[in-house]
Amino acid sequence: MAAKKHDAKPGEVPTTGHTWDGIQEFDNPMPRWWLWTFYGCIAFALIYSVLYPAWPLVNRATPGLLGHSTRADVAMELERFAAANADIRARLEAAELTAISADPELNQYAVNAGAAVFRTWCAQCHGSGAAGVQASGYPNLLDNDWIWGGDIENIHLTVTHGIRNATDDEARISDMPRFGADGLLEKPQIDEVVQFVRQLSGQEHDAALAEAGAVVYADNCAGCHGDAGEGNRDVGAPTLSDAIWLYGGSVEAITHTVTYARAGVMPDWNERLDEADIRAVAVYVHGLGGGE
Ligand code: HEC
Ligand code: HEC
Repeated sequence: MAAKKHDAKPGEVPTTGHTWDGIQEFDNPMPRWWLWTFYGCIAFALIYSVLYPAWPLVNRATPGLLGHSTRADVAMELERFAAANADIRARLEAAELTAISADPELNQYAVNAGAAVFRTWCAQCHGSGAAGVQASGYPNLLDNDWIWGGDIENIHLTVTHGIRNATDDEARISDMPRFGADGLLEKPQIDEVVQFVRQLSGQEHDAALAEAGAVVYADNCAGCHGDAGEGNRDVGAPTLSDAIWLYGGSVEAITHTVTYARAGVMPDWNERLDEADIRAVAVYVHGLGGGE
């Protein structure tokens, strides 16, 4: 039989009187250290909730007496960084574009800042490694094949004003005619000139069609793409004599390009980025390997 609470003899721990399968529940007091830790936690929670933001209200939490705010901390950190970089950004904005890469400190800042700008604003179209997306119209920026020019000034201009966008009057503009869709060339002529472009780019082609296509090309295409398909950066006409394709070099892809044209668009960045960021990303792209 379990000893009842009131049955405890002096020096024995009383029990609660509960028994399960012969196991009795003693009625020991909580250990002191445990109790004090427990009270300490309660006191800490009360003091904390008075000093720091704690209780959720409708729009925000109670602010706390100390006025602590992680958001304000972030704003302060950002300000600190902006202040720390203000000098070098001012120098970047004032420097000759062509002189930036010769100034190690300026160049290093530009490349680092430019890489961050690129990841945020450019990677979704040009790929995180700037290798473009094959045959999608988003060019590879790592190679030496430039549509509009790969020196720092041309890259800066392309990034500042963009290409064929509706938002910047100074955007680079050049429109390849829609030879098929607008009836400028008949279907057989298109087939011929496509074979000629295949020949220019060193791909498998039909020699007879390509020969006829050479005439079509000279009359309709050479003005922009050059006599030998070397391309023309003044009008953003890509080189056709290499194996690098913006939209693809298959018969189907070239036929589509000649029939409908493509008119790829790149946004202008002068409204979204400040001059220092534009310069930084231009320097970054210029330094990626294909810079001229
Ligand atoms: C919405 C998609 C898009 C975004 C975002 C974009 N670009 Fe482009 N970019 C293009 C397209 C499309 C072209 C090619 C246009 C053409 O056909 O001439 C291009 C071309 C370029 C060129 C010219 C390449 C050459 O061969 O001359 C440069 C340089 C360039 N982009 C840099 C950038 C940078 C730097 C950023 C970020 C600040 C950026 N782009 C963001 C779509 C984009
Ligand atoms: C007014 C100038 C102009 C003329 C004329 C012109 N093109 Fe183009 N072509 C361009 C431009 C600009 C592009 C860049 C693609 C785009 O965004 O439209 C281009 C792109 C192309 C491409 C895609 C290249 C790639 O890398 O994917 C092919 C192929 C092409 N042209 C073939 C021709 C042929 C063939 C003719 C003649 C029938 C012709 N072009 C006439 C300006 C011209």
